[in-house]
Amino acid sequence: MTTHDIAVIPGDGIGLEVTPAALEVAQAAGRRHGFAFRLTEYDWSCERYLREGAMMPPDGLDRLRGHDAVFLGAVGAPGVPDHVSLWGLLIPIRRAFRQYVNLRPVRRFEGVESPVRGDIDLVVVRENTEGEYSEIGGRMNRGFPEEMAVQEAVFTRAGVTRVLDYAFELAGRRRGYLTSATKSNGIVHTLPFWDELVRERAAGHPGVRWDQEHIDALCAKLVLEPSRFDVLVGSNLFGDILSDLAAAVAGSIGIAPSANLNPEREFPSMFEPVHGSAPDIAGQGVADPIGAIWSAALMVEHLGHAGAADEIVAAIADVLAKGDVRTRDLGGTAGTEEFTRAVLRSLDGAA
Ligand code: NAD
Ligand code: IPM
Ligand code: MN
Repeated sequence: MTTHDIAVIPGDGIGLEVTPAALEVAQAAGRRHGFAFRLTEYDWSCERYLREGAMMPPDGLDRLRGHDAVFLGAVGAPGVPDHVSLWGLLIPIRRAFRQYVNLRPVRRFEGVESPVRGDIDLVVVRENTEGEYSEIGGRMNRGFPEEMAVQEAVFTRAGVTRVLDYAFELAGRRRGYLTSATKSNGIVHTLPFWDELVRERAAGHPGVRWDQEHIDALCAKLVLEPSRFDVLVGSNLFGDILSDLAAAVAGSIGIAPSANLNPEREFPSMFEPVHGSAPDIAGQGVADPIGAIWSAALMVEHLGHAGAADEIVAAIADVLAKGDVRTRDLGGTAGTEEFTRAVLRSLDGAA
């Protein structure tokens, strides 16, 4: 039997609640399909930061390096500034392991109420290591009238090209349509460069129809006619915003999964729900575990078990379609555990 070696970082807030749910479902799928997991849990979190002064130990990245994948819940807690928790754990993992594709599928499930009309089946491909999330910049003249903050956005030919190629290839395997998020109407320097590279890479993928939309108009179109989109590709910040928007349009940000991929497989990839630690509902057992369970399905697929991954997503869809068990964000009354049990029951009943 294949055993996959997974680093588990539940993190903070509802990360601690949705992570066990997701792994339980992944393990159940493994039992049905003849694979298993060896889980190594790391308590790296804001709590650790408050206790020991660092989100993870100095050799944290080295410890993760040997695993087949990383599964993360969420990072962030009131009392620890977000820039400390995020630069101390989440962002270094994405960068050190060259997880330059952040893949974020969005689907409208039957039985889920959405504020918009029409089907939704799209994937946001978010550039995940550069763009607006650069380390270059700073705060100056604190406390003086001249106080200011500067942030440089970094777009490299190599960095943009590799994520575009991934997105075009993905579109080629899906409905053959790619939309690039931009803002190239002459205001910023970086996005005309992004657009040039999109045109260049499009030439190498003649089977894919593509267009580009300014990010502001694209947000509006995502709400007004989400069904027309297939693959959306965007910079780090645009992709971040688009993925929460698309997930909410499909019903709730609680259902959105993500895969931080190192497509070359030189390093482990990391799987985590799109949502954060949700301090407003943490500790109550009411978090929607779908984003995390679906992220576990993406991990299972990445590890070579596409059939098992499909079964997990089908089990989520089945429970939602029946409609009697759903969490509060989707208008129901079930808690995290009750919903997870329903997914496990559906999985066991799968043919
Ligand atoms: P959030 O995603 O944590 O919460 C936004 C809203 O959505 C909240 O009202 C929350 O209750 C709700 N929500 C989120 N996930 C849900 C779920 N599974 N079920 C039901 N409701 C859910 O975003 P935020 O409030 O902007 O950030 C809170 C903290 O999380 C911050 O510290 C932030 O930095 C961090 N964060 C971390 C990650 C990550 O680890 N990848 C992602 C986003 C935010
Ligand atoms: C996400 C989150 C992170 C991001 C934050 C917490 C840094 O919002 O994974 O979507 O912007 O990448
Ligand atoms: Mn986000």
